[in-house]
This record gives sequence, C-alpha cells and structure tokens, in this order.
Amino acid sequence: MKKPIIYITRKLPESLLQSYKEYFEFHMWKEEESSVPREILLKESKMADGLLCMVSDAIDAHYLTQNSQLKIVANNAVGYDNIDLQTAKKNEITVTNTPDVLTETTADLTFALLMATSRRLIEANQVIRDNQWKNWSPYFLAGTDIYNKTIGIVGMGRIGTAVARRAKGFGMRILYHNRRKNPEIEKELQATYVDFRTLLTESDFVVSLVPLTKETKHLFNKNAFHQMKQEAIFINVSRGAVVQEDDLFEALNKGVIRAAGLDVFETEPITADHPYVSLDNVICLPHIGSASEETRTKMIQLCLDNIYQYFYGDGPITPVF
Ligand code: DGY
Repeated sequence: MKKPIIYITRKLPESLLQSYKEYFEFHMWKEEESSVPREILLKESKMADGLLCMVSDAIDAHYLTQNSQLKIVANNAVGYDNIDLQTAKKNEITVTNTPDVLTETTADLTFALLMATSRRLIEANQVIRDNQWKNWSPYFLAGTDIYNKTIGIVGMGRIGTAVARRAKGFGMRILYHNRRKNPEIEKELQATYVDFRTLLTESDFVVSLVPLTKETKHLFNKNAFHQMKQEAIFINVSRGAVVQEDDLFEALNKGVIRAAGLDVFETEPITADHPYVSLDNVICLPHIGSASEETRTKMIQLCLDNIYQYFYGDGPITPVF
C-alpha cells in the first residue's frame, strides 16, 4: 500500500512523528507559533489523505470539498466547531478530536482562572512590578472568597465534572445546567441540576464550559448578565462565541457583574487594544486551557494514533462521528 499523505498544519516535534514515518508521508507547515496561511493550506493539502489540524484552522466546506481523496481530519482539540461537520459527513470524511487527555489540565486552568480573578492575583502582581506596594492596609487588593460560595457550571461534560470535583474540595455549593441531568454526578458531588435562569441568579461564579453550537452562540448576553448577581464572577474556558462580547464589556464596565476570567474570545488572537484589556476587572488569557507540556503531547499523540488506527487499525479511537 502506498503510504497515505498526511498534512499537518503546525510544526510538531520530530520525536513525536518518528515512529509513524514508516506508515505515512508527512507534509508539515514550517512554523510552530503561526498558523499556516490559507492559500498554502489549500495548496499543500490538495493531495493529502489525512489532515492533522489545530483549533485555529477553519476547516470549512470549501476546504473539505476541494480534495476528493481526504479521508480523515484529526483535530488537535476536544472542541470541533472549527470544522464543518455537515460537509465532512456528506463527503464521508471522518473527524476525530482529543477528549479525555485534556480534561484535568483544562479543569486546572479553569480553577486557576477562577481563583486569580476572585483574588485579583494579576493586579496584585502588577502592583509589585510597578513598585506601588506602599503599605499593608485592610482592604488593599481585597478580593472575594471562594469557599462557601456557589459555583454554577454551564456544560457538565467531562471538563465540567472535573471542575465540579475541584469546587467540592473548596467547600463550594455546586449548581449545574446541561442538556441532560447526570444523577451520578449529583450523588458523587452533591451537585444540583437547575434551569439556566436559576443558575444565573444563584451563582457567585458562573463558569462556561459549553461547546459552541447554534444553540449556545451568544448564550451569555445582556439578558444573562443582568440576571447574575452584582457580585458574580464570569469564567469562560469554552469558546469565545458563546459570549456576546459587547454585552459582557458593558456589564463589566458598568458594574452589572463583578469580574470576568476569559481564556477564549470570539475572534482569536485578540490584541492589547481589545476593549476587555482596558478593564481592571478582567483577566484575559491566550486560549491556554489545555496547555501543559504533558497534555499537549498527549493530544498530538492521540491525533496521530487516530490517523494510524483509521488507515491501519480498526478505526479511529476518538471519532466525532
Ligand atoms: C480544545 O481542546 O477544544 C481547546 O480549546 C484547545 O486546547
């Protein structure tokens, strides 16, 4: 059998590709930190049998129909809203993602963001860097507590559940909203299923971990922010487009809610002139939810294993369909 050609949209470590080289002919974009330009992606992967792509690559209908021999798209992410699934299905192209391997790492980041936002860690660090620590005073950089507070998790999938376990350890009351109730989680974590409105009105921390779909686009909008407590902190580690960004800016700017911790944005990357960056009550991170060295390596490995299993095994390990 002729080796299948696999196009990889970002420079990956040779050491990870090495053992697959006897099975595949790899073509790879040369840079690690910048995305492959669209024309190059279209041109270079025209002959590819498989694609290993990043969450930042738009694998749309045009891409998916230009290459009649493409058989598999392995997305290096658990979310797959960057891929036009309908077109992939219609063209019998398998799509895979990377669930499980990133769950705990992403939950860690979610909780880190929640803690950093509530205890104002970035502002506090900046005070030292600006040489502005003058004295101890009772309410200097006073944040808000986590223990005994209510966390409302929107999207109780794998990552939501891992965040809930952390919240339990911090002595929080746990509310969740999801497509389906999960009786096991309720028993294990004493989490309570509530409707979206109740979650918004009762939570001190509203945490978004929902996938981006037609139903969740701009779910967190003016109406939602106005239902939250004035002291509420909003955390988003799912996808930027679940938030109506102008509405969140206004809510933060006018004190409708207390603060926000955001790892994702509707259009990424954002730059320093993004309106959020002008606000002291927002922490912005550059989409690093799953960014530990161990987990990013496991994600790449899983993409390669999915591709290997598709061509030489019993089918991909973690297919989206
Ligand atoms: C995912 O896996 O969907 C993340 O957003 C990318 O790390």
